[in-house]
Amino acid sequence: MDKIRIVGGNRLDGIIPISGAKNAALPLIIASLLTDERLTLENMPRLRDVSLLTRILSNHGADYSLNGKRPGEDHLAGQTIGLTAREIVDTRAPYELVSQMRASFWVIGPLLARCHRAQVSLPGGCAIGTRPVDLFIAGLEALGARIDIVAGYAMAEAPGGLRGARYVFPKVSVGATHTLMMAATLAKGETVLENAAREPEVVDLAACLVAMGAKIEGAGTSVIRIQGVDRLHGATHRVMPDRIETGTYAMAVAMTGGDVTLTHTSGDLLRAGLDVLAATGTTIEETADGLRVARDPAAPIRPVDVVTEPYPGFPTDLQAQFMALMSRANGTSRITETIFENRFMHVAELARLGAHIAIDGRTATVTGVPRLVGAPVMATDLRASVSLVIAGLVAEGETTVSRVYHLDRGFERLEEKLSRCGAVVERISGEGMR
Ligand code: UD1
Repeated sequence: MDKIRIVGGNRLDGIIPISGAKNAALPLIIASLLTDERLTLENMPRLRDVSLLTRILSNHGADYSLNGKRPGEDHLAGQTIGLTAREIVDTRAPYELVSQMRASFWVIGPLLARCHRAQVSLPGGCAIGTRPVDLFIAGLEALGARIDIVAGYAMAEAPGGLRGARYVFPKVSVGATHTLMMAATLAKGETVLENAAREPEVVDLAACLVAMGAKIEGAGTSVIRIQGVDRLHGATHRVMPDRIETGTYAMAVAMTGGDVTLTHTSGDLLRAGLDVLAATGTTIEETADGLRVARDPAAPIRPVDVVTEPYPGFPTDLQAQFMALMSRANGTSRITETIFENRFMHVAELARLGAHIAIDGRTATVTGVPRLVGAPVMATDLRASVSLVIAGLVAEGETTVSRVYHLDRGFERLEEKLSRCGAVVERISGEGMR
């Protein structure tokens, strides 16, 4: 299996282009199941999760096409894919596929809306907690579906189609908001979703659905209103920038010091994250096409406390990266994780590099140390793995991160983007991968 080898100590200087957002790309791909016409998605990131999900959709009957490279195009530019689900030939999403990517469970919404039935495997456990699907089931039942759990599958049907309804989420869920919003586009009458997720990816999905003919108001607020329509049509949509990738590289620069411009992105997507970074002593400047992030490597990193929250709060997907940064701060910080249980798997690995972190329930107390020292470490999940890379960038000597398939799920050409800015980062190919 591949590993990433990092030799720490260099500052980062240069330009990093930000890719299309993985967490927007996935629901957008799934939205193609709602129409028999072609959905064209531009600025698609080249990621393992994207290729896996297109494979899952082809199992339902969607055709998939990929535009070739255009003259003069940078190989880091996003790609354009076309998806056409002319006919849904199979409404079953099997365990072998759903267990590989939790978001593939979300197909249950479009399948129920368009075919009035779906048999979707429950996703099962996951490294960052139990992550149940109760909200999806309760919400779809509110729209008139009957759902039984049989042999590990959600067996769902809505004879005569889904009906609009009011549903109040007892807890904010990004995936359940995506799924119910997609399902409601083809339901009869009006659906009102309250306490909905306000993440920018929900807004991006809504914009694409509207371009496909859906009637949606309020995406980005906690109340979303959807008037059902008889059918949706094809459209072309550009995937929004990845705010988590943006925040991750901003934290990498805060860690090493240096001066980097992040392009094809926007600071508006992660205000809470940038405010926290500014409080650590990092300079953040908005540019026409993104952000400039700079820090004097000799200046101390100030400790800052954070609590993860649903958008617009500090994102859980940047918690591990921020903890890596705080491990070098000039003092003690407290990081509280409120979204997922068990999302501190990176702590033991950061400790191998010399970080001082104590966990008490949902709060990690990080006592900054003046130096980290490179060591072999293991990636445990997507965001945890990139926090180890960030720590490795300042650790003395060599850090090797194994199990990098986690990184490949969500970070496009990470080693290339960082090494272009002066970091010593390389992929060591192992047998049996790529
Ligand atoms: C999405 C993101 C993920 C991010 C997370 C929170 C994608 C592909 N993934 O995940 O990167 O970390 O949002 O911002 O977009 N919950 C329930 N019952 C449910 C559904 C969720 O209890 O039926 C709980 C979860 O266990 C978790 C919380 O709600 O504690 C939030 O999860 P949710 O927002 O649904 O996360 P995902 O959509 O899976």
